[in-house]
Amino acid sequence: MLQFLKVSSYEEMSKTAAEKIAEVVKAKPESVLGLATGSSPVGTYDELVRMEAAGEISFAKARSVNLDEYLGLDGTHDQSYRYFMDTHLFKRLKTPFASTAVPCGTAADMGAECKRYDQLIADLGGTDLQLLGIGPDGHIGFNEPGDAFILETHVVDLDPSTIEANARFFASQAEVPRRAVTMGMGGILGAKKILLVASGKAKEDVLKEAVFGPVTPRLPASILQNHPDVTVVYSAT
Ligand code: GLP
Repeated sequence: MLQFLKVSSYEEMSKTAAEKIAEVVKAKPESVLGLATGSSPVGTYDELVRMEAAGEISFAKARSVNLDEYLGLDGTHDQSYRYFMDTHLFKRLKTPFASTAVPCGTAADMGAECKRYDQLIADLGGTDLQLLGIGPDGHIGFNEPGDAFILETHVVDLDPSTIEANARFFASQAEVPRRAVTMGMGGILGAKKILLVASGKAKEDVLKEAVFGPVTPRLPASILQNHPDVTVVYSAT
């Protein structure tokens, strides 16, 4: 079942999403959370940090697995997704997560790294909740439009529209890595619950097409229609 919640502000989107994550962690403190990067979940993480500081929630027993990472950026690079997670969530908590994982974008053998990551997700028993954003081309994680849905963690050539969209975080478009490693659709759909956050008018069309249009690898997020428990929280502003 897919629930589409339209809310009136980025702040409300963030609070709604954080509440849903908190519900899962309160019911099962050792939850495995699939986490995402991008500007969409920043407010959600701010709210989770606030709740943790206020003693309303603890991640001490929780584990996390992130969706993706740029190839060639190590965790000290300020545009790496490991760095993003450390600065927006992990290092801001009073008590850290029991464990956190982000795919390694600098492994000498990326094929082995992809296999290791899928094994890690399997060993954790899959995720209890997967948080997602959506790219302008409908990507989730870095699963870009293509001829088929790829189930395993894999290395991907980024779509030109993704490179353009993400250039705002780099000094120039030339500095945006051309490749990334992403959890595949198997890992994402293996989550017990999926929570997608999106804001801004620019996301509305791709989001509606993903939720209400045909399921096609040309629009990767459309695969979420096949999952039994998806909540989309969208704010136009
Ligand atoms: C990146 C990430 C995606 C994210 C997307 C949207 O490409 N790999 O996981 O959903 O950005 O980002 P934003 O929320 O900044 O629009």
